[in-house]
Amino acid sequence: MHNIETFELIKWVNDHFPNTLYSFFGSAPVALTLESLVSLSTDPETTTRNLESLNSLSLELPTSFIIRKSIATAIFSDTDGVTTEHVLTTAGSTGGNAVVMQSLLQPGDHVIVQYPTFGQLLAIPKALPGVNVSLWKMDPTKGWDADINELEALVQKGKTKLLVLNNPHNPTGSSLTGKRRRQIVDIAKKYNIWLHVDEIFRPLFYDSEVDSSSFLEFSDEYPQIVVTGSLSKAWALAGLRVGWVVTKERRALRAFHNMAKYLSGECGALDEAIAVEALSSRCRGNILQRQLHQAQTNISILEKFVQRNVPKVAWTKPTSGATAFVQFRKDVDRPVDDIDFCEKLKAVKGVLLVPGSLCFGDGSKETGGQAGQDIKGFVRWHLTGSTEVMEKGITEIEAFLNDGFDRVKAAPQLPHVSRL
Ligand SMILES: Cc1ncc(COP(=O)(O)O)c(C=O)c1O
Repeated sequence: MHNIETFELIKWVNDHFPNTLYSFFGSAPVALTLESLVSLSTDPETTTRNLESLNSLSLELPTSFIIRKSIATAIFSDTDGVTTEHVLTTAGSTGGNAVVMQSLLQPGDHVIVQYPTFGQLLAIPKALPGVNVSLWKMDPTKGWDADINELEALVQKGKTKLLVLNNPHNPTGSSLTGKRRRQIVDIAKKYNIWLHVDEIFRPLFYDSEVDSSSFLEFSDEYPQIVVTGSLSKAWALAGLRVGWVVTKERRALRAFHNMAKYLSGECGALDEAIAVEALSSRCRGNILQRQLHQAQTNISILEKFVQRNVPKVAWTKPTSGATAFVQFRKDVDRPVDDIDFCEKLKAVKGVLLVPGSLCFGDGSKETGGQAGQDIKGFVRWHLTGSTEVMEKGITEIEAFLNDGFDRVKAAPQLPHVSRL
C-alpha cells in the first residue's frame, strides 16, 4: 500500500479529546472489567474459577481452537452452519478487514464500497496499487436505504472483484432489509463478486422488524462471502483485540491465514482465554443485554431531543449498531458545516461529537474524494455510552443551539445536499 490517507476519525478524536466533558465520539461501550464479567455471569462461581485459572495459563502462542469454536457457536446461528474450521482469529476487526482486502485485491480490480463508511473500509482499497473504487451511496432521505439498480449500474463486468458492506452500519445505525440482502447476493452471484461484510455491530438490533442474520446465511448457495467482526462493540471488550474473519470458501480462507501471518499474527493467549469465558453461555446473554438496554435508553433520550429541536435537528432513528447519524441545520434546506459545528460545540461546551463529512466521507480532493459534501451537516453520535453523559451532554447541546449556534457556518450550498 502507498499513500494511504489520514484516518480522519482517529485524528479528530486525538486532536479534540483533551478537555472533553461529555464524549459522544466513540462506538464502543464502556468496557467490561474482569469483575464485571463475574457479576454479569449467571454462574459467578464458575466464571471466577475460570478467570482465576488464568494465573497458571502458559503464555505461549495459542492454538486458537477453543476461541474459534466459541466464535462459531456464539456469534452465528445454527442456520449459518459455521464451524471452527471456517474461523480465523485476528487482532480486532481492524486486522480482519486488512487481511481480507489485501488478500483478495490485485492491481486492475474494481471495488464497490457502501457509503458513507467507516474510514478503514474505503481507505485500504483506495490505497492498494491499481485498484479502483466506486461508492454505493445510501440515501438519507430514504432511511439510509441504497438503490439496488444503482449498485448494478456500478458493476464493471469482469473487473468488479469486491463489494464492501458494513451491516449493521456505522455511522448511520441502519441495517439492510431482508429484501436488499437477497438482491445484493443475487447481484454478487450474477457478476461473480466477493462480498466482504463487516458485521462488527451484530447483534446490536433495536427493532424486531430488522433482519438480524449474518450474511453467512447465504454462503451455502454462494460461498464467496466473508464476514469480519470482533468483541469490541456488542461485547464491550475492545481492549482484548479479539476479532475474526469467517468464510466457507476454502481457498480464500487459506489465503487469509497466510496474509494474517504477515499482517496481524494471532490474538494473545490471555485475550483468547478471557474471550472464551465472555462468549460462554453463562456470560454472553447478560453482556449483550447490557449494551442493548443502554442503547435503547439513549435512543429514546436522543429521539426526544430531536423532536424538541426540529427543524434545526433531523435524523433517521437508528434500528441497530451503536451510533446515530444526526443532521444539524440552519434551516431545512441548509445543513451546517459539521466540522465547524463540532469544533465550536467542543470549544464552548466541552461536548465531543464527530463530524460526518470529515470522518465518514469519501476523503479529500487530493485522494480523489469530494470531502463528504453530500453528507454535510451530519454528526456521529455514540449510543452505547452512559445515560448520565447522554442527558448532561444534551443539556449542553440545547444551550448551544439557543446561544452559539448562530455563529456556526452553514455548509456551502450544493444542489445535491440531502434534505431529510
Ligand atoms: C465498522 C467498523 N469496523 C471495524 C472497526 C474496528 O474495530 P476493532 O478493531 O476494535 O475490532 C470499527 C471500530 O469502530 C468499526 O466501526
